[in-house]
Amino acid sequence: MADQGEFAGQVAVVTGAARGIGFGIASTLARRGASTVLVDVDRAVLEASVDGLAGAGLTVKGVVADVSSLASVKTLATETLAWKGRIDIVCPNAAVFGSASIVDMTEAEWDRLLSINLKGAFLTLQAFMPAMLERAYGRVVITSSVTGTRTAIPNMIHYATTKAGLLGMVRAAALETAGRGITVNAVAPGHVMTEGAASLYDPEFLAATENHIPMGRLATSDEIADAVAFFASRRAGYITGQSLVVDGGLTLREYPAGYPRV
Ligand SMILES: NC(=O)c1ccc[n+]([C@@H]2O[C@H](COP(=O)([O-])OP(=O)(O)OC[C@H]3O[C@@H](n4cnc5c(N)ncnc54)[C@H](O)[C@@H]3O)[C@@H](O)[C@H]2O)c1
Repeated sequence: MADQGEFAGQVAVVTGAARGIGFGIASTLARRGASTVLVDVDRAVLEASVDGLAGAGLTVKGVVADVSSLASVKTLATETLAWKGRIDIVCPNAAVFGSASIVDMTEAEWDRLLSINLKGAFLTLQAFMPAMLERAYGRVVITSSVTGTRTAIPNMIHYATTKAGLLGMVRAAALETAGRGITVNAVAPGHVMTEGAASLYDPEFLAATENHIPMGRLATSDEIADAVAFFASRRAGYITGQSLVVDGGLTLREYPAGYPRV
């Protein structure tokens, strides 16, 4: 059951929420009292996830939408605003991963990542902005990454570009809306064990990754969601245009794990 938590009476929308970090964000906000719209392209997984949360007594709604399509996102905004008549929290989180070297990158693959990860976040932000401006209240929390903003991975130049681009979006949107009741921030997760990330890891790679992370393990989606919930709260009202790294110390390392020997 939702408690009468800090988000009671508020409405949140989370994209890419059928699974992974998005599901963690949506369920965390819903558990803390927000009526929450879960958005995804994957209808089957979305329905199962929404049914699970509704079955636990939370106030949730599923909307199938493709964030890279303007028409789809406009319909999403209309349906969301019609549901409870307001929007308080917008979490553009949907993204896809990909792998291609600079030489082998096709224009189609480049465009696919940019249109979902980068344009999709903008279209979501844009679609809900008039309603937030009208009420002079809004919390936008975008899911970026350490990839592209602090670190990089070979053969993921398009992904890194989108995640770094989101921080530019956050700063520009924060400045444009500052003083109008709206804040725009980002979380930058390190390694999170989600359905989307799981396919990247074989047991040896996973063990090596865990060894490399100072805290010795990957994050859970709920740990990322806790940081999102802070930015989404009224308590964070004087913070805008910022990003928070949530990476278990991953980006602190200067030497390989265990070195220098002291
Ligand atoms: N998993 C990690 O280690 C990690 C690390 C840093 C940042 N992130 C970021 O966190 C976010 C979520 O990643 P995840 O690991 O949970 O991924 P995931 O693949 O497990 O979940 C992503 C969800 O987005 C949905 N989606 C894909 N394209 C969509 C579209 N066009 N419209 C609507 N929904 C769409 C998918 O169907 C899926 O349900 C992404 O922004 C990702 O870049 C993930």
